[in-house]
Amino acid sequence: MTQDELKTLVGQAAVQYVPAGAIVGVGTGSTVNKFIDALATIKDQIRGAVSSSVASTERLKALGIPVLEACEVESLPVYIDGADEVDPRGNMIKGGGAALTREKIVADLAERFVCIADESKLVEVMGRFPLPVEVIPMAAVQVARRLKAQYGGEATLRAGCVTDNGCHILDVRGLKITDPAAMEADISQWPGVVTVGIFARNKASVCLLGTSDGVRTLT
Ligand code: 5RP
Repeated sequence: MTQDELKTLVGQAAVQYVPAGAIVGVGTGSTVNKFIDALATIKDQIRGAVSSSVASTERLKALGIPVLEACEVESLPVYIDGADEVDPRGNMIKGGGAALTREKIVADLAERFVCIADESKLVEVMGRFPLPVEVIPMAAVQVARRLKAQYGGEATLRAGCVTDNGCHILDVRGLKITDPAAMEADISQWPGVVTVGIFARNKASVCLLGTSDGVRTLT
């Protein structure tokens, strides 16, 4: 199966995690696009979605799925999103599509995070994928220095990228993320950091991995 077919497989499988009558948290990316397409087939059975990016909002609306603002809901039964890396404990790196801040906000509203990914995203220790860190533009150089000094990471500014929040992204190479929760808590409180792309506090409750043998479920 191609990577695209594996994404379709998990995007469709995720629909079974959407309760009837729910407002669903929807992530961002090519795998989530497959989920949105599948969600459209049951759109009459849900109340709507809270989206994590302009791109997902446009796709949801184009398919006739009502989109609510995050401030209009108190909680969501489920948030469904992809990942750039996921470890066997459900910790993730996210932000390859630059939507990490809104993704973390919507994930935080949700009772369950269902991660959908093809099996190439599963790693024992995260860090091969460059860690995205969204920063206030004036803090970028100082945050890059700290990433080098404290973690040995080489940060580069993502060229031409301005996030939905008007901020910039540093991509950090050379990290070995052995304690995701501690690194997330630490970097999150540095001045000028908007969001670090480690999702350990909001880790996946369930991970659906697309494999050539079908969907493998990690809980
Ligand atoms: C966007 C993300 C995406 O979920 C992540 O990049 C995975 O994307 P894809 O499904 O296209 O591989 O975090 O900010």
